[in-house]
Amino acid sequence: MRFQPLAKLINLHDGYRCRFVIDGLQLLLIQQGGTHYLLEAQCPHKGHLLDEASIELGCLTCPFHHYRFDLSSGELLAHSDEPCRPLRVYSPAYEGNEIGVLLE
Ligand code: FES
Repeated sequence: MRFQPLAKLINLHDGYRCRFVIDGLQLLLIQQGGTHYLLEAQCPHKGHLLDEASIELGCLTCPFHHYRFDLSSGELLAHSDEPCRPLRVYSPAYEGNEIGVLLE
């Protein structure tokens, strides 16, 4: 496994969101309530980008069809049409003063 840095910890703050493309993988790094979340950046329903998703009470709501996902587990919590798979979530990795992801 190799550490792929994404951001310096000093630059993160509540409300931080940034999308990264690493090895063809689109990742969304979020800080909310002092916690770091690393998610796939596209909605598993129809692929809308989640940069502008609303986040409230531990739930992320896709702006397109308003499907709701648990921010920690990625579980699909609410849907208006056919259900989709859960949102993929990744464990943030830390090295020195950086946050990143471990890749194979
Ligand atoms: S694309 Fe996200 S809810 Fe449909």
